[in-house]
Amino acid sequence: MQNVLVTGGAGFIGSNFIRYLLPSEPQIKIVNLDALTYAGSLENLTDVANEPRYTFVQGNICNEELVLSLLRQHRIDTVVHFAAESHVDRSISNPHQFIETNVVGTLSLLTACRRVWLEEKALPLAAVRFHHVSTDEVYGTLQPTDPAFSETTPYAPNSPYAASKASSDHLVRAYHHTYGLPVTITNCSNNYGPYQFPEKLIPLMLLNALTGQPLPIYGDGQQIRDWLYVSDHCEAIKLVITQGRSGETYNIGGNNQPANLEIVQELCALLDELVPDSPHCPHKSLIHYVADRPGHDRRYAIDIAKVKTEVGWEPRESLISGLRKTVNWYLANSEWIAKISQQKNYQQWLHKNYQQRGVQK
Ligand code: NAD
Ligand code: TYD
Repeated sequence: MQNVLVTGGAGFIGSNFIRYLLPSEPQIKIVNLDALTYAGSLENLTDVANEPRYTFVQGNICNEELVLSLLRQHRIDTVVHFAAESHVDRSISNPHQFIETNVVGTLSLLTACRRVWLEEKALPLAAVRFHHVSTDEVYGTLQPTDPAFSETTPYAPNSPYAASKASSDHLVRAYHHTYGLPVTITNCSNNYGPYQFPEKLIPLMLLNALTGQPLPIYGDGQQIRDWLYVSDHCEAIKLVITQGRSGETYNIGGNNQPANLEIVQELCALLDELVPDSPHCPHKSLIHYVADRPGHDRRYAIDIAKVKTEVGWEPRESLISGLRKTVNWYLANSEWIAKISQQKNYQQWLHKNYQQRGVQK
């Protein structure tokens, strides 16, 4: 990895990845291509903005000409593809945007890489890699006693988001199989940590709890996710790119599988401890059951045996240590919270999503 094109680097995981990768390898240069949708913000990257080895380009991954010019101009050898529409509830409201970005956008990147790397032969084939960042949600849902998802679990996506990510995974696989494009795919479980947009469970609950608003639990709150602290995910991606085999998929997970209600109760307990003077203590009194998500997947769990054996990765953070770091980060970054949460689009989303579930906002 010398010249890296990161797509979606102004979002949650992409910004954490850039912050992780830049200092780890002094020779690396990063170009961040991001459309700055509602989910992307340069506020996530203020600390790297002036680094000479970092370049930001505002643009859409569906713009193939732009992608071609970036690949050529910066002699890109590695693409790390994060850019996506990423929120399941929004995919239920507006599936079209998910197909455009997640499927058509991925095809545009693959087409441009094929052109520059395979047809123009701009770089030795052994030096290039397209890494696709995907999700465990492509595998669908597990029954309580089912074994965890492995790389051979059949795809069975249940939401428009999961279906769009599954489609993009298939395209990446097909570009390897048909054209010989060097690729790797990681299918990761739910991430949490600094800079996560507050539409997702953990930051939404934190922001609501800090302002004394209801904590909306969908359905019975017994749905299970496999939570992973974001820097662990970043480390896994780097190891898979540098040590993983081309054409392979690797599942990434946190080995942490509590029910949603337990996660929210743990966040409330942390806030009670860290903000003891809050008028909203005990924060768990804010918990509020609301209408469930249509088609809500019940349980995800990830078998990480392959990534552990082949590239030596396993998570460093436990759920307790990761949640504590996350709560401390949100408590210390009230300016970031204010800037992100004042966006009109965000307020409109909260109103739309939670009013229909029976929580007024
Ligand atoms: P995010 O929603 O926080 O960020 C997405 C970023 O992509 C934003 O900066 C946005 O501006 C950018 N973007 C959207 N459409 C674009 C377009 N057409 N062109 C260029 N940029 C565009 O997402 P995230 O949570 O950081 O997730 C990143 C990737 O990881 C996604 O592909 C997602 O499917 C995958 N993933 C996420 C999780 C999770 O728990 N968050 C878990 C597994 C996999
Ligand atoms: P989310 O963070 O949206 O991630 P994903 O749907 O990709 O897993 O949701 C995580 C879990 O939390 C999921 O089971 C839905 C649930 N959830 C709630 O109970 N209340 C909420 O307000 C949100 C946003 C999510």
